[in-house]
Amino acid sequence: MSSRAPNKAPCWLLVTVHELNPKGFGIACVDGRQLIVPGALPGERVKVRLRRRGRRNAHSELIEVLEPAPERVAPRCPHFGICGGCTLQHLDPAAQLARKQQHLRDLFWQHGQVAPQSWLPPVAQDPWGYRRRARLGARFVEKKGSVLVGYREAQGGFVADLSRCMTLHPLIGERIERLRDLLTQLECRRYIPQIEVAVGDADVALMIRHLVALGPSDRARLIAFARAQAVQIYLQPGGPDTLAPLWPAEAKPLHYRLPDWGLELQFMPGDFVQVNGAVNQRLISQAVALLAPEKHERMLDLYCGIGNFTLPFAGLVGEIVGLEGCASLVERAQENARRNGIDNAQFHQSDLASAAACAPWLQQSWHTLLIDPPRSGCSSLLGAPEIARLRRILYVSCNPETLARDASLLVRQQGFQLARAGIVDMFPHTNHAEVIALFVRDKRG
Ligand SMILES: C[S@@+](CC[C@H](N)C(=O)[O-])C[C@H]1O[C@@H](n2cnc3c(N)ncnc32)[C@H](O)[C@@H]1O
Repeated sequence: MSSRAPNKAPCWLLVTVHELNPKGFGIACVDGRQLIVPGALPGERVKVRLRRRGRRNAHSELIEVLEPAPERVAPRCPHFGICGGCTLQHLDPAAQLARKQQHLRDLFWQHGQVAPQSWLPPVAQDPWGYRRRARLGARFVEKKGSVLVGYREAQGGFVADLSRCMTLHPLIGERIERLRDLLTQLECRRYIPQIEVAVGDADVALMIRHLVALGPSDRARLIAFARAQAVQIYLQPGGPDTLAPLWPAEAKPLHYRLPDWGLELQFMPGDFVQVNGAVNQRLISQAVALLAPEKHERMLDLYCGIGNFTLPFAGLVGEIVGLEGCASLVERAQENARRNGIDNAQFHQSDLASAAACAPWLQQSWHTLLIDPPRSGCSSLLGAPEIARLRRILYVSCNPETLARDASLLVRQQGFQLARAGIVDMFPHTNHAEVIALFVRDKRG
C-alpha cells in the first residue's frame, strides 16, 4: 500500500519495487499502474517523487531508499543516474549476472518453452574500464560555453555532461575533459555531433563526425591534440565510408592480442571488434572448450568479422571457412591469417541474409557451425533445410531476445537440443548481455 503526502501534487510516494524493467529501472505498482523508478532495485522500499504520468505508466524520481536490497552497492561513477551508459551500477556485479541469466531463462521459455540441459557459469572479468569501442555524443551548449561529450542521458536523450567514464578504457575514459576542451576550442564546435572511439592494445583512435568542412585552424588544433595525446584522429564528414585519417596522415591499423592462441589481430578504427577485450578472450576459450574440435574437422564460422573466432579455431581443426558480409572485414581477416602464418582458414564475402548466397556454403559438409550474427539474429539462415544436417551449432549473440527466438527455431523445427547456455558479461553495468549457446544433435554436447 502506498502512502501519499497530504499536500498538493507533485507529491512524494512510498512504494515497494517489485522488478527491474529491461532498461534496468525499478518498477513498482501504484493504483494498478506501473511506476518507473530509475535507481531502485527489486525488494526495496523507496520514497519517490512523481514526475510524469502516461496512460499506462508513470515516471518518478528516487528521493530516498528506505529499505535497501541486500544486492545494492554504491555506484562508483559520479554520473550514475544521469548518464544512460550504465543503469545497473547500483547492483552488485554477481547480482547483475544472475539477473541477466534469469532474463535469458525467461526468454528461452517465452519463445519456445526451451531450457538448456545445463547452464554454463557466467563468463566475467573486471567490470571497470573494459569498453574499447564506443560512440559518444557531442553537443555545444551555449549557456555553458562548452561542448559536452558523453553518452545520452538515461532519461531525456540529451548528451550527458561527463567528466570521466569508468567503464570506458581508461585511455579514453579518463580523458573526457581533454576531449571536451579540444572540441570547445574548435571553430566548428556546433557541428560535431559524435565521436567514436576504438582502443587497441597499443593505440587509441578517435573518429570525429563533422557536419561542416573543417577549416585549417581546426585541422591544426586536432593534429596538435593527436600528437600531444598520442592518439590517432580520423575525420568523418558523411557516412561510415567517408572515414579518413587526419593524423597520422596514413591510416595505421590498431591491434589486439589473443595470447592463449599466440595471435595478434589487426583492425581499423571503424571495424567491428568485440567491445570487451578481456571477456572476448574468455569467450573464445569458452567456445573452444564447448566445441572441443578435432584435428580432422571442417568448420564454418558465419559472421566472422576480422577472424576473431576463425583464427583461434584454425589452429585446432583441419580447415575453417569464415563468411562475412563486409568486404573490408573479409580483407582484414585474410590479412590477419597471413600475418599469423595461418593457411587453413579461408574467408569469403557473403550476404548471410540471402538464402541464395548461403545455400552453396550450407550444402557442403561441415562438422561444426559457429555463428555470431548482428543483433537481428539469423532466423532465415537457421531455417534453411541444410541446417538439419549439422550436428553442432555454437551460437554467440549480443541480443538474448533474438537468440531465444532462434533457439526455438533450432529446437522446435530443426530438431536440435539446447545443450548448454550461459551469460558472457561483455557489457557490465549495462542492461546488455552477450550469450553463448551450444545446440547439438548427437551425444557429444
Ligand atoms: C557480432 S559481429 C561478429 C564478428 C566476429 N564474429 C567477432 O567476434 O568479431 C557480426 C558481424 O556480422 C556481419 N554482418 C552483419 N550483417 C551481415 C550479413 N547480412 N551477412 C554477412 N555478415 C553480416 C558484421 O559485419 C559483423 O562483422
